[in-house]
Amino acid sequence: MKLKNDLIIRAAKGERVERVPVWMMRQAGRILPEYRAVREKAGSFIKLATTPELAAEVTIQPVDILGTDAAIIFSDILVVPEAMGLPYEMLEAKGPIFPKVIQTKKDIDVLRIANPEKELSYVLKAIDIVKKELDGKVPLIGFAGAPFTIFCYMVEGKGSKTFSVAKKMLYSDPELAHLLLQKITDTTIAYLKAQVKHGADLVQIFDSWAGILSPDQYRKFSLPYIAQICDAINEVPVTIFAKGAFFARKEMSNLKCEVIGLDWNMDISESRRMIPHKTLQGNLDPCVLYGSFKEIEKQTKKMIKNFGGQKYIANLGHGVYPDTDPEKVKCFIEAVKNYTI
Ligand code: CP3
Repeated sequence: MKLKNDLIIRAAKGERVERVPVWMMRQAGRILPEYRAVREKAGSFIKLATTPELAAEVTIQPVDILGTDAAIIFSDILVVPEAMGLPYEMLEAKGPIFPKVIQTKKDIDVLRIANPEKELSYVLKAIDIVKKELDGKVPLIGFAGAPFTIFCYMVEGKGSKTFSVAKKMLYSDPELAHLLLQKITDTTIAYLKAQVKHGADLVQIFDSWAGILSPDQYRKFSLPYIAQICDAINEVPVTIFAKGAFFARKEMSNLKCEVIGLDWNMDISESRRMIPHKTLQGNLDPCVLYGSFKEIEKQTKKMIKNFGGQKYIANLGHGVYPDTDPEKVKCFIEAVKNYTI
């Protein structure tokens, strides 16, 4: 189906755009009262994410309410371990937790390389519904966690500031770590290909914990697996967002992907110089949205001026924080849309 608004796809491919496109990481969710109402109705996050009709409804909400130039499928990166045979729970106000974690080769051997049409059919069904309901209004972004970030949760079992339990395996038993990373990668490639087959117009890889690795460790345990994904997904543009991996920008410029996402610690001009041929995405500090409307407009304009209007997708430098006022979010989105390039 032909897209009525294909700004993000054109920007991702490096084609000319008339204005800068904008969306926000974590746009589908906690900031919107309309989301919280559906979440209440569903009863739990997991119920919401596994009920295709409801997941589709909250996917489309930010497009209608906030005016973003793309929808991102409502799901979570942790559905991949679950599909491989390691289920998670989502604790209220605490976040994800895995009752069982990966410690031995036997733990890895019993994991499966998921068949997305089977174990992740609820996400694919949600994509089918969203595509039908959007009717080409804006593109749909699919996503998955980067293998290293998924590895962190599967070994650590929960969120952590340091992920020292997961990192311990990299030093104490690197072969075991590689075995698990490869299995996650194989599942992720199958999962992303299925998302694309069902209609995802672009896919993004979230390497949320990239920043806890040294450059050497990042080169060994994260980049090669991201590279496999980039090599495998050729059907649609691919965005790599590696939070905190400022040290790997040069290497990321050589990946077979179209877009690199930046967090707010990464200098814009320096990043353009290091990644000259790709589209960049980002990178407003989500805390700017706690400022006044005037300040948000000022910071947004300054950011776009620094990036330049082409080969650029406006976004925050990480997901929007849950306690952000939706009116402030609208102010950010409008400021991007009103910017003349
Ligand atoms: O709008 C979107 O971006 C689509 C939906 C989406 C969610 N999670 C929904 C969600 C996406 C893209 C994610 C990705 C995700 N999940 C990441 C990578 C992005 C990042 O932020 O770095 C990570 C690390 C997770 C793991 C995760 N899921 C955590 C740590 C938590 C708890 C803390 C939190 O952010 O709320 C979740 C839960 C989660 N995932 C919620 C939502 C809307 C909140 C659950 C609720 O509604 O109670």
